[in-house]
Amino acid sequence: MSLTVASIESDKKAALSALLNAGNLDDLKMARLAHVGDKSPLAKANQALGSLPGSERAEFGKVIGAARAEVNSAYGEREEFLIGERDSKILAAERVDVSLPTKRGSVGGLHPLTILTNEISDLFVGLGYTVAEGPELESGWLNFDALNIPADHPARTMQDTFFVEPLDSGLVMRTHTSPVQIRTMLDRKPPIYVICPGRTYRADELDATHTPVFNQVEGLVIDKGITMAHLKGTLDFFAAKMFGPDVTTRIRPSFFPFTEPSAEVDFFYRGRWVEWGGCGMVNPKVLQACGVDTDEYSGFAFGMGLERTLMVRHGIADMHDIVEGDIRFSQAFGTGTR
Ligand code: PHE
Repeated sequence: MSLTVASIESDKKAALSALLNAGNLDDLKMARLAHVGDKSPLAKANQALGSLPGSERAEFGKVIGAARAEVNSAYGEREEFLIGERDSKILAAERVDVSLPTKRGSVGGLHPLTILTNEISDLFVGLGYTVAEGPELESGWLNFDALNIPADHPARTMQDTFFVEPLDSGLVMRTHTSPVQIRTMLDRKPPIYVICPGRTYRADELDATHTPVFNQVEGLVIDKGITMAHLKGTLDFFAAKMFGPDVTTRIRPSFFPFTEPSAEVDFFYRGRWVEWGGCGMVNPKVLQACGVDTDEYSGFAFGMGLERTLMVRHGIADMHDIVEGDIRFSQAFGTGTR
């Protein structure tokens, strides 16, 4: 290979113009391979220096070194320019106009009954209770017999209970959440502090105050030395949290086969007593049937309707609003849109 100053000069010019003409980073890469890299004419000229006699080597070495330095710095400048250009194109293409109006789609929301259920669960979890659940399709034994509800009890007649075919399956749609008490006691050893919200079924017509599918929340406590005073204190706490700090409860003698003594719970709200649910000390017969030692342990239970709680608290006059699923009803509770 014969080296001349003119050929080095023309290799340099070719390199500079290729770099300058590269319109994007891909072109620039090609120009770099051809004119800057190890296989470029200037790199080859540099390799050829080795075979020159000493004096020429120094002279051409300077010329080639200067040419390569110029080409390298031109490459660096062009690369910087093209990266800047590419980035500003990306920024322009991905620009978002935050002042544009958005689509107001509706997002799902929780039904007010679900919100209430969560609220009550949280409340009792805060007292150290756990949340227990059971199936809605329940064995008649757990729904009735284990709760000391005899076969001739009115709750067992065809009018109240949804029986499930085949009738000898012994299955019913649970008429209350109390079978979860039994399941819990069969499952766990005392002390027991549980809250059991859930859907329940009774053969009622849907009208302004009734619905065949409704919700209850059951509380159950089994521990040493539990008395009715604990029950009353718990009910007062619950009522105050639900309806306002000044709201109190009263209990009136009543009868449930699974509690002894039994009571109805009312709460005083806006100048009148409102019926809320049932409660009592768990009947020792029920405790014994579940293997709880009644010499050591006693307990209380209560059960309230959630629809009723929601209706009184929010002044809902018609049960239809709760069950019909009109989204405008839920929206009034702040759910369903954004
Ligand atoms: N299970 C009863 C009902 O549905 C309510 C209740 C629960 C009463 C717990 C006493 C104790 O009517």
